[in-house]
Amino acid sequence: MTASRVSGLSPYIPGEQPGKGTGKKYIKLNANENPWPPSPGTVEALRTADPELMSLYPDPDSGRLREAIAGMLNRYGGVLSGERTAGFPEITPEMLFCGNGSDEILSFIFYGFFEGPRPLVLPSLTYSFYPVYAGYYNIPLRRVPLRSDFTLDIEVMLNGDSCGMIFANPNAPTGIGISRDSIRDILDRWPRDRAVVIDEAYVDFGGETVLPLLGEYENLIVVRTFSKSMAFAGMRLGYAVASPGTIRTLVTVKNSFNHFPVDSICQRAAAAACGDSEYYRGTCGAIISERDRFSASLREAGWRVLPSQTNFVLAEHPRLSGAEVYRKLKEAGILVRHFDIPGISNFVRISIGTGDQMKKLLGAVNNLVLNGGGIPPQYE
Ligand SMILES: Cc1ncc(COP(=O)(O)O)c(C=O)c1O
Repeated sequence: MTASRVSGLSPYIPGEQPGKGTGKKYIKLNANENPWPPSPGTVEALRTADPELMSLYPDPDSGRLREAIAGMLNRYGGVLSGERTAGFPEITPEMLFCGNGSDEILSFIFYGFFEGPRPLVLPSLTYSFYPVYAGYYNIPLRRVPLRSDFTLDIEVMLNGDSCGMIFANPNAPTGIGISRDSIRDILDRWPRDRAVVIDEAYVDFGGETVLPLLGEYENLIVVRTFSKSMAFAGMRLGYAVASPGTIRTLVTVKNSFNHFPVDSICQRAAAAACGDSEYYRGTCGAIISERDRFSASLREAGWRVLPSQTNFVLAEHPRLSGAEVYRKLKEAGILVRHFDIPGISNFVRISIGTGDQMKKLLGAVNNLVLNGGGIPPQYE
């Protein structure tokens, strides 16, 4: 009964999502979710939503939400943490596209902008959904290994004849970002008729945005999500920022697949969230401080921690395997992520939670190191 194309798919494997109210309660640091609640204005918008929003179809193009996102980006210069980006250009709603999580937008981008027989070039270690979409749309890949310090090998990525380029900046799961100038250099040396897609899922935690380059490079597409810095992972909202012509292509792809990807309640709540961006600047700041504190403590305890500009860290201990750390922490009631991938199989990826959660995690990992895995029951 199944179409033969399905047998060739290699689906994405997300971090575990243990069912709520069923069995053990975990400290969940495995999916880069935000440990802070949505802003008061967001919660109020949800609480006061008119039930009619459920029974009528939503605005298919999220018009008011795109205005709200443009307003937020222009107010803060593109990133919720740190200083306003100098010379930030005006982002207009015509430069924005909203989708059901940035995963859906990535799928539309793969469909609309990447095409064989030339391969799509990407780092061998980056967001693991990209190869899944490439398989889904039958796009050949050229996967370029990272350098020994886990940074992108841009020179090698620029070699060869590719139909497009994609990577996350800051990258996942390394947490390491590159500068806007480095991406400008890529764009200057890249054919103007082939897309360069920069996934800025984690940019609000200390990365450098390339939004200021949009006016200069028609082929640049920036993908963003509300899931991480704005605590919307369960509600599903992502957006793309690009030239109005590129956005029109995305709308055509969307309308050929699902006319209404973003529901009315999400549109309402997200517009309220944009109005509360000061709150999210605060929570991003708290996560950044916690990340830096936690990374310093891990390093002091002998761990190698890659320098992160995200809401997670990739870390390894010289005497423990990544699989063992993952398993022992899970037994102790703490979920982190382990990737059984060459080059990082000895690491675990740890999402940054609240101060209290990270204190418990530190206690647990310190015991793991001291006792070779015996974690005392107070952490359970
Ligand atoms: C680099 C990167 N891009 C995109 C996504 C997808 O985010 P969303 O929840 O918006 O689909 C993730 C999720 O973990 C990610 O790590």
